[in-house]
Amino acid sequence: MKILLYISSIVILLFTGFYLYQENIAPGWRSHQRAYLDKLENKHYLEKSQVSYSFPIKLRQIYLQEMNRVDRCVSCHVAMEDPRFEKETNPLKVHPGKYLKKHDPEKYGCTICHDGQGRAVNWKDAAADEPDVYWTKPILRKPFLEANCYRCHVDLLKETPDYNLGKQYFETSGCLGCHKRDGKGGFMGPELVGIGDVSAHIKYPEKSFDPAILSQLNGNPNLAYIYEAVRFPGAQPEDTVMFDFKLSHEDTRALTVYLKSLSMHQTGTYRLPLKPVCPLQIIEKGKKTFQLYCTACHGNNGRGGVRNPNYINDYIPRLNTLSEQMFLRKKKKQESVISILDEFDDLLEAGPQSDISGFFKVVAKYMAVKNIIENGRVAEKKDGHGPMPLNMPTWGRSLSKQDVASVIAYLISVY
Ligand code: HEC
Ligand code: HEC
Ligand code: HEC
Ligand code: HEC
Ligand code: HEC
Repeated sequence: MKILLYISSIVILLFTGFYLYQENIAPGWRSHQRAYLDKLENKHYLEKSQVSYSFPIKLRQIYLQEMNRVDRCVSCHVAMEDPRFEKETNPLKVHPGKYLKKHDPEKYGCTICHDGQGRAVNWKDAAADEPDVYWTKPILRKPFLEANCYRCHVDLLKETPDYNLGKQYFETSGCLGCHKRDGKGGFMGPELVGIGDVSAHIKYPEKSFDPAILSQLNGNPNLAYIYEAVRFPGAQPEDTVMFDFKLSHEDTRALTVYLKSLSMHQTGTYRLPLKPVCPLQIIEKGKKTFQLYCTACHGNNGRGGVRNPNYINDYIPRLNTLSEQMFLRKKKKQESVISILDEFDDLLEAGPQSDISGFFKVVAKYMAVKNIIENGRVAEKKDGHGPMPLNMPTWGRSLSKQDVASVIAYLISVY
């Protein structure tokens, strides 16, 4: 028994000794800090006698209590804020751009933007991006780290062109006709908030995923999963309903950056000053709602043209002729109805309108359209034994009364 105890203590001692050596005596950060000092001295920025006094070699770390992070990246990247180190190579190179001037590393650290493992003391573990090992947060480089800017920022930044393009594409293509974002949207596809949290969303691309594309995605399999789901729907065996938008590589990459930002963790939004949101005009609001939730199925501006397999009419109905169905062919009449919708969010509540001819017929049709939007409708099959066509989803729970009124006003306006 005693012998066993001796042996185990020795083993433990050896292990601790080994890790102590690896983490504190041998590791890369020491040699990087020494190289930094040598350079300071060789360039005569510092006298030899000053060198070790002003820059002691030690493990450097940034502790961010509120975010529960410890970032040791600066143990190696010691010249991050030293503009004299512009022409050097990493890790002894100054940080590009003005990012660290605007975001003091002492306050924010590095992993808030770059991901990676903050605690690691060698570059391989810090980068956490070997493709065969499962890491939860591989390091992010351009353009994918743009996604992390929106852990804090709310308004679009000009420094994030790919994110901006992806968001624009997402919000005008009707992705939310089937997906939810923060609980709002359709129900055919999965909720998308959380897809950016790699560790909460363990999904891999198919084995056949093109290695040439993977290398353009920071070699990051989770980014590759998002990319594949968007650009090659059908590659994953369970992908059956997701639309093939026939996207280019550039557009998909931008969408991937945007989708990566859809995280459960908005770390620091509270730090930013809130700007008042200016209310949109009813038609603009309706257009936005339509582009968010309806475009994918009903086509741009409701022009239709989207096939619906095994649907009795082959194509999902166009909606830009809604005015006609609602007896609103004349511009003047359309405008009157839109202004009532703007005021009351409804037609029925406005009461009789003597200046609009046949108003009761307009109201009746309005109620029917509103009913379809709020409660959905099952699409009739062409071949009774064939597969289910896409149905008109139920929107009553996702969209407010104002949203529904605005989307109808918008559809009246596109006639
Ligand atoms: C506010 C977000 C932000 C923070 C915080 C931040 N970075 Fe960066 N970093 C960026 C961006 C954006 C780029 C890409 C800039 C470019 O290429 O124009 C970048 C680029 C880099 C590069 C150069 C990459 C290359 O390909 O040459 C290094 C190295 C780097 N960061 C390290 C760090 C370290 C270490 C820290 C912590 C001290 C840090 N960064 C903190 C946003 C940030
Ligand atoms: C043990 C030292 C060490 C630590 C710790 C370290 N790095 Fe580095 N880093 C390096 C070295 C060495 C390079 C250059 C490697 C190369 O070019 O292949 C580098 C390069 C980089 C680059 C740009 C090169 C690339 O591959 O895109 C970024 C970005 C970066 N580091 C960020 C970080 C962040 C963020 C952390 C903290 C999570 C970190 N580093 C921690 C040593 C380190
Ligand atoms: C941890 C939260 C956080 C992250 C992540 C973050 N920022 Fe910031 N950023 C801030 C805060 C806070 C300010 C200062 C706002 C203020 O004081 O008005 C700021 C300021 C800025 C400014 C200056 C704004 C101005 O009006 O002067 C720019 C530009 C900027 N950030 C870009 C970025 C970019 C690009 C990224 C991603 C690479 C990023 N930020 C990531 C929190 C963050
Ligand atoms: C998943 C695809 C899909 C989405 C997303 C979708 N619809 Fe539909 N919609 C349909 C289908 C299919 C029909 C036809 C149902 C039928 O045959 O009764 C339909 C029918 C309608 C009709 C009745 C058209 C007519 O001529 O009878 C209206 C109005 C309508 N949708 C509005 C909307 C609005 C507004 C949105 C967004 C909030 C929306 N739809 C989103 C698939 C969709
Ligand atoms: C007609 C409905 C529909 C539309 C429109 C749609 N999707 Fe999907 N999407 C799905 C379904 C359903 C899935 C789940 C996989 C499957 O069964 O095909 C999916 C899966 C995904 C996934 C993988 C999600 C995960 O958690 O695995 C992503 C990412 C995605 N879609 C992005 C988009 C984007 C971006 C758009 C808009 C450009 C879009 N989708 C439009 C139906 C849709």
